[in-house]
Order: sequence, then C-alpha cells, then structure tokens
Amino acid sequence: MNSEPISNQGFASKTSECPRPSSAARRTSRVSKFYERSIEERLEFVKEFADLSDEAINLLKSSPDQNTSDKIIENVIGNYSLPIGIAVNFQINDKDYLIPMVLEEPSVVAAASNAAKLARECGGFTTSADDPVMIGQIHVFDSKHPNVVQHILAKKEELLSVANSKDPMMIERGGGAKDLDVKIINDNHIRIHLYVDCRDAMGANAVNTMVEAIAPLITDEIGGKAVLKIISNMADRRLVRAECTFSRDLLGDDTIDLIHKGQLAAEADSYRAATHNKGIMNAISAICVATGNDWRAVEAGAHAFAGRGEGYNPLTKYQILNHGDLLASIELPLAVATVGGSTKLPQARVNQKIIGAQTSQELAQVMAAAGLAQNFAALKAITTEGIQKGHMRLHERKN
Ligand code: MEV
Repeated sequence: MNSEPISNQGFASKTSECPRPSSAARRTSRVSKFYERSIEERLEFVKEFADLSDEAINLLKSSPDQNTSDKIIENVIGNYSLPIGIAVNFQINDKDYLIPMVLEEPSVVAAASNAAKLARECGGFTTSADDPVMIGQIHVFDSKHPNVVQHILAKKEELLSVANSKDPMMIERGGGAKDLDVKIINDNHIRIHLYVDCRDAMGANAVNTMVEAIAPLITDEIGGKAVLKIISNMADRRLVRAECTFSRDLLGDDTIDLIHKGQLAAEADSYRAATHNKGIMNAISAICVATGNDWRAVEAGAHAFAGRGEGYNPLTKYQILNHGDLLASIELPLAVATVGGSTKLPQARVNQKIIGAQTSQELAQVMAAAGLAQNFAALKAITTEGIQKGHMRLHERKN
C-alpha cells in the first residue's frame, strides 16, 4: 500500500533546526511533576490557570445528578463516571493550554504531557484549521430525469436559501449553507452534497434539518426518491493540522531514527496503521468526551479520512530534518464544537473553560496537537523501551 504519498496540504516544509522557545511572559501550562501533587493541589493549579469559580471546581468533583442524566438519554438508571486527567505542558501557536482528558486508559495523560514538554523545547505546536464546514448528503434513487445535474444546479440559489431559512442563528454568526454539488453515482442513483459552515457548532442537527428541508424540492424537480438525508461524518472540508519539531539534542539520533521507522511501518502496513491511529485517537477522543463532543463522529471521520486514498494510512507524517531534528505533523477532520449539544453539560462546560478555546476551530487545533503528541509518545515508547515498562512504572507510582 501507500504507493502514492497522501496529501499533506497546508503543512510547512521545514528544513531548519529546532527554533528556540519564545520567552514571552504569560501564564504557563509547564508544570514539573504534576503527578506528584495531591488532587486538591492539582485542582488549585487548574483553578488559577483557567480562572475557575468554586462552583466550577465543585462540578468537577461531583458527578451529575440523576435528574440531569434522565433528560439526556432514555431509560436512565444511573451515571457511569470516568476520571478527568489534565495534560500539561502544551504550547500551541505560542499560547499555553491545560487539556482535560476523560478516559479509562493509564499512560495517555502522562504520555501526552511528556511529549508536549519535549515539543515546547522547540517552540511547541503550530496548528491551522479549515472553516468548520460539514457535508449534508441526499441520496436520490430512481430519478428518470435526463440532465439531473443541470436541473439541480439551476435551482442552487433557491435550495441554499431554503436551507439557510432553517437556521437564522447560524447565518447571524457568519455560517450557513454555502454551496452544493451533485454526483451521478450510477443510472438510478445520484448524490447531492450540501456544504454548511457550522461555525462553533458540530452541526449535525442543523445540517440534518437543512437536507431534510431541501430534499423534497429536489425530488419535485427530478422525481425519484430521496432515500437518505443525513450528515456525513467524513468531514473532509473541516480539516485540522498540527506540527511540531522534536530536538535531536534531547532525543538523540537513534531514538529519532526509531520513531521515524515506526512511522514507516504504519505507512507500509494497514495492520500497524490501525494501531498507530488508535493511539492518536486515545488523546482526541478523551478530549471529545471531556468537552461534551461526539467522539463516535470524530472517530468515524478520522478513520474514513485515513482510508480515503489507497488503503488505510497513518494520520501523521514524520520527517528527519537536515540538522537531525524530527518534524512531526498530523492532518485529520475534526467536527467538534464549543457550543450546542452536550457541550452544555455542566462538567463539559468547565472542561471547555479550562481549555479556553474561543472557537470550534481553536478547540480542534488543540485536539490535533494532543493527538500528535500522543502519537509521538507512543512511537517513542514502543520503538525504544516498549509500552509495558512505562505502564508498569505508572502503575507502581499509583500503588
Ligand atoms: C494503546 O492504547 C495505543 C498504542 O498501541 C498506540 C501505538 O501503538 O502507536 C500504544
């Protein structure tokens, strides 16, 4: 597999050595031995960093009451809680972040923090994000109309305007349905894509409402049946990128070479690529859960993107630079929100405040950086001392 390299559009192509970290004075996420502090001391640090109220701290300590949960899903019988851990040391686009992660797996928070510490020695992570555009799909079967493409495109402005009438708030914020296109899949099957800028929402509700609203207008025009009217989780118009450099002086040539070979293994073998990407999602899904985002949608998008070309590929790239430093980068779709849906849940709101992202794009960039950090840490562990040794060390520390 991987005869064609996957596109890495938008990535800087660096050839120079590790730049010096910025010395600008500001609040810092760089903490030594955070794990040695008590839970109360950690909470105090986070409280000060994110300017949290006592009420917010109490929300982190308690689990939601059953009445709140009863309103979220059906047939509720209780709550299931998972630990919230804080990944420290992250510097992204010259700003410091503490990153809450909710998951059951040991080592993930420590590994991400450790990789972030190494990355910040070279200036931390540089990230970018596309506009938050989601795709709504309409699959029409059995239209007998000739020239369906021209007919639908002729109605494009009307269709966009009907779609936009469904979410005036989104339009007010600068989002909304921006475009649509039509693809003939075969003689009796066509697919329409509606492109919706969802701003700070994930967008599933808005997009589903829009495609349901315009589907009858389309079938009135071309006949047939609109069998599916639903968002696509392959959010490849909502891509996010992160990159960072790891210093040869800190890692040594051997470790850099081993990590690079770890990447090559994932590029050559989809069995390895699956595990490689799973490690990335260890961090990203844990932040999704912490911030009230739909981690299944994000997982679906990431893996569909990894499989979009020939075979199934790693979401990262690694390159050894001229001076021996290691440039790491990642690109993936991240359909995540800072408003709406489960982001309104009390603990999710506090975790969103700890990250402090002003937009869904900023939150997505934090996730991409954390995913890259996680991947680097996993590759470093498994290509050097092995994963079990680190796990055991953490386990011993806990007991
Ligand atoms: C374990 O949850 C994740 C890793 O297997 C990822 C990897 O192998 O790259 C350590």
